[in-house]
Parts: sequence; structure tokens; C-alpha cells
Amino acid sequence: MRIMDCVDFDALEQEARRVMTPPAWVFCDTGADDEITAPENARAWRSLKLRPRVLRDIVDVDTSVSLLGRKVNTPIMVGPTGRHHLFHKDGERATAAGAAAAGAMYVMSTSGATLVEDVAIAGGDGPRWFQLYMQPDRDETGKLLDRLVASGFKALVLTVDQPVPGWSPRAYRVPVIASPDRRSVNMPGQPIARTAYDPTRKGIVMFPTNFKDLEWLAKRAGIPVVVKGVLRGDDAVRCVEAGAKGVIVSNHGGRHIDTTVTTADVISEVAQAVKGKAEVYVDGGIRRGTDILKALALGARAVLVGRPPLWGLSVAGAAGVQAVLEHLHEELVRAMRLSGTPSLADATPDLIFK
Ligand SMILES: Cc1cc2nc3c(=O)[nH]c(=O)nc-3n(C[C@H](O)[C@H](O)[C@H](O)COP(=O)(O)O)c2cc1C
Repeated sequence: MRIMDCVDFDALEQEARRVMTPPAWVFCDTGADDEITAPENARAWRSLKLRPRVLRDIVDVDTSVSLLGRKVNTPIMVGPTGRHHLFHKDGERATAAGAAAAGAMYVMSTSGATLVEDVAIAGGDGPRWFQLYMQPDRDETGKLLDRLVASGFKALVLTVDQPVPGWSPRAYRVPVIASPDRRSVNMPGQPIARTAYDPTRKGIVMFPTNFKDLEWLAKRAGIPVVVKGVLRGDDAVRCVEAGAKGVIVSNHGGRHIDTTVTTADVISEVAQAVKGKAEVYVDGGIRRGTDILKALALGARAVLVGRPPLWGLSVAGAAGVQAVLEHLHEELVRAMRLSGTPSLADATPDLIFK
């Protein structure tokens, strides 16, 4: 399959599965436990019904949005996902280049074997944020924060929904065995030994994080802090009170705790609770332009996609990541035109049938 032949993500996913090694495929695809939540995320967006408007001026469509002060031309971000060398030899550098070529925000994961400085070179002027798991050593974390600022990362995304690794029988059977040169080079302190589903880490709280840590980080970071992994309005409010400038409604793609609410279930509640005091984004199962339109209508400022860029990355490197983002963006523009929504500000709750 040529990457430009990507007309829907079902075909791309099949192709990605064909080219990935079995452990890489399982790492990318798996959800936790019985894998209920991962596919439910996608089904939840699909089951919401749109109420399109007609006879609106939709020749000119404006998809631009400001993300914590930086204007970008698309509300689609590349979500933080680890270990891109499993998917392509150029790893995170390819992802950064592909996202920059598509004009999309790239949220780089803590977990990966590429230095933040190298991602900055590959991403050039492209917008980028960095995702962090709270690390025990604050001095080392502080040094990393300074390097991020120097490398042009404009926000810090603190992931809070994975204090311990989830359990995946599938990944247990087909584990990723990380080679020593593929450790998480940006992680201060001890790198993750093998895989997020590492059975030798049973019972270890890898990333204990509380609201006091968030307060410290918000003061120390030097860039805005966004909290990722929130599924409740009351938690979102506490995050904002502790200094967060943004909140990502996420259940980690169903990878750590199974049978949670879907993100489509709770995006409205969180957006309403935050009352515009911080920016609200959402991820999980976003696979179509109509999914994005629905997420924005329910109160998200932008969406993140996790697995689809990895499919593109594995099939065609940077060009594959770019193709995935551009295809999704095209679908969004079409959905906006077909629903009488000329700008993102016009994506309001009345677009969804209740
Ligand atoms: C292979 C893989 C690795 C991930 N690694 C991270 C990570 O390092 N940090 C993080 O905050 N989220 C991580 N996530 C979760 C994603 O950021 C995102 O929340 C999720 O994938 C969104 O769902 P989607 O894949 O259905 O789009 C990972 C997801 C996948 C698929």
C-alpha cells in the first residue's frame, strides 16, 4: 500500500499490522485486561448523532485554533505515545517531522529513545509540547524542564492516569524486549526497564503523583502545564486550582484501567466544570472527521490521536505521519462543510442530537 492511498484508517491499520513486528503491533494496539474500553472509545463517538445545519456559508472554512497562545491551523494533535523506534528506524524524529509538515502539534512522550534536542531539530518550527510522568528526583526533573524550554517545547503535559502499569495479557504473551540503546533517554532517574506491561514491576508504583506535585510543577516548569488523564469534572477543577492551564480528558486509550467511562461520555461534564478557566482537550478513539467535530461541539478545544500516527509511522515514516494527519484534517473540513460549521467557534452543542 502506498501511503497516499490511505483513504480510511481501517486499511491503514491492517497495513500497519502487516509491517510491524508482533511485539510492536501488540504494544501499539493492546488495551488493558479484557480490552473493553479501547474499542468503546471509538464506538462512543460513532454513536453520537449529528444534526447538520443547512444553507450556511461554508465555502471558506477556518480550522485554526490557538493552543495555549500558539496559533495552529488544525485542532488535531499527535498524542504522546512511547517508543517510536519500535515503529520506524528514525523514531520520534520522524514523527516530529511528519507532524510539523502537517502543521500539527506534536506532544512528545517521556518514554522514548530520542533526545528532546534531536526532536527539536527534526520538528523545526513545528509546534511541540512534552509529556512527562512525574519523576521522583526534582533536581533532575528541573534540569529536564530547562532543556525543554531551551528546545522550544511550549507546554508540559503531565500524565496522571498511570501511577502503576496496567495489565495486558496480550502484551505479557508477546512482550517488547527493549535493547539497552533504546532506553528512555529523557527520563530523569531510572528508565522504564522493559515495557509498560513489564511483569517484573508488579506492585511497584512507578509514578506516584498528587496535587502537591502538580502545584510544584506548575510553579517550576517555566511553561504552562496541562494535566492528561482526567475523566471527572471535580478533578479537572482541582487541577486548574493547582495551576494547570489545560486538561486532557483521556482514559489513556483504554491501556491502563479497563471498563472506564469513554471520553465521549464525559467531555461535556469536564468542559462545563472548567468554565473556560483552562483549555480542555480530549483523546481516545478519534478516527474520523465527524468524531473531531463532535468532540469540539461538546466542548473540546482540540483533539489528540494516539494510535493512528503510529500506523502511518510504521508504514511510511514521517510521510506516513503527515498523511494520517492530513487525511483526518480533510475529513474534518468536509464534516464542517456538510454540517454548516464554517469555523471551530461554530462547533456548538446543538450539533449533537440529544
Ligand atoms: C503505543 C502507545 C503508547 C502510549 N504511550 C503514552 C505515553 O508515553 N504517555 C502518555 O501520556 N500516553 C501514552 N499513550 C496514550 C495516548 O497518549 C492516548 O491517550 C491514547 O492513545 C488515545 O487513544 P487512541 O489511541 O484511541 O487515539 C500511549 C498510547 C499508545 C497507543
